Amino acid sequence: MEIVHIAAECYPVAKAGGLGDVVGSLPRYQCDAGHVAKVVMPMYRTGFLYRNAWDVVHKGGAALGHSWFDYTVIRERTNLLGFDLYLIDINGLLDRDQVYGYDDDTERFLAFQVAVVDWLSRWEHRPDIVHVHDHHTGMIPFMMQHCFAYRHLASIPVVLTIHNAQYQGVMGWERSHYIPAWDSWKRGMMEWHGAINPLACAVKCSHRVTTVSDSYMQELRVSSNGLEALFEYERGKCMGIVNGIDTEAWDPARDPYLEHHYASADPERGKRSNKEALCGIFGLDPRKPLFVFIGRLVGEKAADLLPQVIGDSLHHIGRRMSFLVLGSGESVTEARLESLKDFGRSEYGLYLGYNEGLAHRLYAGADFLLMPSRVEPCGLNQLYAMRYGTIPVVRNTGGLRDTVVDIGEPGGYGITHLHASVGDITHAVHRALQLYADPAATASVRSRIMELDFSWQASSDKYIDLYRTLK
Ligand code: GLC
Repeated sequence: MEIVHIAAECYPVAKAGGLGDVVGSLPRYQCDAGHVAKVVMPMYRTGFLYRNAWDVVHKGGAALGHSWFDYTVIRERTNLLGFDLYLIDINGLLDRDQVYGYDDDTERFLAFQVAVVDWLSRWEHRPDIVHVHDHHTGMIPFMMQHCFAYRHLASIPVVLTIHNAQYQGVMGWERSHYIPAWDSWKRGMMEWHGAINPLACAVKCSHRVTTVSDSYMQELRVSSNGLEALFEYERGKCMGIVNGIDTEAWDPARDPYLEHHYASADPERGKRSNKEALCGIFGLDPRKPLFVFIGRLVGEKAADLLPQVIGDSLHHIGRRMSFLVLGSGESVTEARLESLKDFGRSEYGLYLGYNEGLAHRLYAGADFLLMPSRVEPCGLNQLYAMRYGTIPVVRNTGGLRDTVVDIGEPGGYGITHLHASVGDITHAVHRALQLYADPAATASVRSRIMELDFSWQASSDKYIDLYRTLK
């Protein structure tokens, strides 16, 4: 089967979050299973572009509203990522260092989508599936079905995967002329609550919709930033498929970012050495249990609660544990975490920014990973943590609910809490400390989580089964 994935991110080309990890690994597993999976994404100006060799495969042009733009499609020459990787270059719009965060993001991603559909419409053959991811590619199914110039693509089945429904790409109707001449009878397909809503449009126009866990799919019908009724109405074509992880890139026995390697058969010594190295960098005491938070410092991840959780824990439970935070995001949270340094002293470390290598070292060196997310469609960090023998302390929501079982349950291996509140998280920290006080119990949980199978294999097969129902 030939599957064309279209997305704004793909690791290691460009990544802002978990979407990049998924698009960088799922296609490889699909290729390994004998399919032809391709990835099409914008050509940002990231290091990956300059380090690798490319062939130009197509040059074309299209209109975004009243302005014409030229685009170029290039393909990575060596199959470096295990699948065909295509980048779309549009001068003046996509040639930026960052993936998101520009005032003209709407125009950038609309031009990208127009270029992709225009290029697809010129292929001499028809792929079996077009698989779009999140709202940045959400207008593609509409364009394939309702733009006059591209209607011959209408019979290609489209699957939409929602990695995060908080972001929907909403824009006003004054931008509707950006979409190449379209059937105005189909205006309702684009619309939600009086505006053009690319995520809603993709839900309506795609043949199947998946989210990255079952629980998140159910939650969307109750809470999805205004789309609840749509998810309820379209539930027949929606399903959850939990993400996997790339177990080659994330392997503590071989991880090039780690100084000390270890495997599930005997993780204790390796973890201890990694912890000592990490604590050395941040001036922490390696004898104390280490809690880490890795991720975007935004409300969705409940990062705004961290300063108080850390402060309260050190103050009320006592200086019996250490905390390390790695991430960047909302400036208020960054400032509060920064100002905690004085009080936190040798029990608290902070790295503001994104650092892939340091993240790997945190997973390896930590005892517990905090993930109190208010919303978590799947969550990959808890899966990476478990692979590295770090016990997840997570809120019982979305993909966290589907992948972490509380130690109080039969066969449980993590610590879960109900609410994203300072009280609940601090209580979970307390429970983690109780577990840590029993080294044999901790070691047994550690070995168990390292052996859980969260690889892509099963999930990748589920996508293939889903595609088959559409052929
Ligand atoms: C988004 C979600 C995260 C999910 C990831 C990959 O970043 O917030 O929960 O794991 O996408 O699907």
